[in-house]
Amino acid sequence: MKKILITGASGFIGSFLVEEALMQGWEVWAGIRLTSNKTYLTNPAIHLIELDFSNKESMKELFVSFKQKSGTFDAIVHNAGITKTQKKHDFDLVNHQYTRNFIEALLLSESTPKKFIYISSLAAFGPGNEQTGQPITLMSIPNPISYYGKSKLRAEQYITSLTDFPYIILRPTGVYGPHEKDYFVMFRTINWHLETYIGTAFQQLTFLYVKDLTRIIIAASASNISNKSYFITDGNNYTTKEFSVLVKSLLNKKTITLVFPKAIVRSIAWTLEKLYSVFGSVPTLNTEKYKEISCKNWLCEGGEIWNDLTLEPRYDLKSGLKETIDWYKQENML
Ligand SMILES: NC(=O)c1ccc[n+]([C@@H]2O[C@H](COP(=O)([O-])OP(=O)(O)OC[C@H]3O[C@@H](n4cnc5c(N)ncnc54)[C@H](OP(=O)(O)O)[C@@H]3O)[C@@H](O)[C@H]2O)c1
Repeated sequence: MKKILITGASGFIGSFLVEEALMQGWEVWAGIRLTSNKTYLTNPAIHLIELDFSNKESMKELFVSFKQKSGTFDAIVHNAGITKTQKKHDFDLVNHQYTRNFIEALLLSESTPKKFIYISSLAAFGPGNEQTGQPITLMSIPNPISYYGKSKLRAEQYITSLTDFPYIILRPTGVYGPHEKDYFVMFRTINWHLETYIGTAFQQLTFLYVKDLTRIIIAASASNISNKSYFITDGNNYTTKEFSVLVKSLLNKKTITLVFPKAIVRSIAWTLEKLYSVFGSVPTLNTEKYKEISCKNWLCEGGEIWNDLTLEPRYDLKSGLKETIDWYKQENML
């Protein structure tokens, strides 16, 4: 049985990844930390492995003893990362520096896997040009606008600088699905009969349903592809208006539309950030998130990986949202 290590296994994408890998017959090690929530990691087939990315030496020792007992991993998916934080410096620390520590520990313990998948983000390259409306492509020059995007790009640059390291970098666009917390805020707002927009109802967006993403990641882990980077979307372009119309019809709600000027949203984001910081947490709408969600063009060409793996997306936004909203309803969250 082939062995796969999935980091960030306790999170939204990570828990789906673990399930997909088990379904595809992998022996799965779920990388977590002591404090991680294990609600979605209860399948007895899962091996839990605690990783402290801040401590290269402890990871090295762990990989050495793992190798003695079980050999090296066939594939590693480095999915752990932060998308929001109180301290902006933490973006670089966790997304970039910890990725370095992790890979250095693998190299020092001579545990390089056959495939290392790094889960980056469209934010490492985007947004796209607002004037031309052109999508980001593999030929685009990276232009991240947030600390998050910059940290993901730095991690990518480190990985691509390595020699004899069999990586695939995947840059998903916005990922939605059950268990997710940020898009859920929009579902809940519409459920409260409010349809809100920042500046315009016609931002250009791309999406990916979590189960399609995890299918791609696990297929890439077993593939012969190496040293390539890809964007991933469900292959369609959408507008914020289309997104809201779908959610409204799935929730069967009538709404009042509010279009907020960007400056107002920026002030709300700033105020919420200050208020939440008192309780040591970060709101979904924060100043870093504002930078990204206020951009008009998040289009990207995300088809190449589907072709290379001879797979097709199973979900478009309508079918993915239906499954997602059904799950929230079942959980009495909507
Ligand atoms: N969601 C999206 O739309 C999207 C789009 C593109 C790319 N991505 C990328 O996909 C990955 C997963 O995102 P997600 O949406 O699933 O986020 P998530 O639900 O917040 O999960 C993040 C995971 O990373 C772990 N993690 C965070 N900081 C860590 C640290 N210091 N040490 C060890 N583990 C740590 C978390 O562990 P704990 O449970 O212990 O906190 C959690 O398991 C991230 O790398 C993100 O950048 C996400």
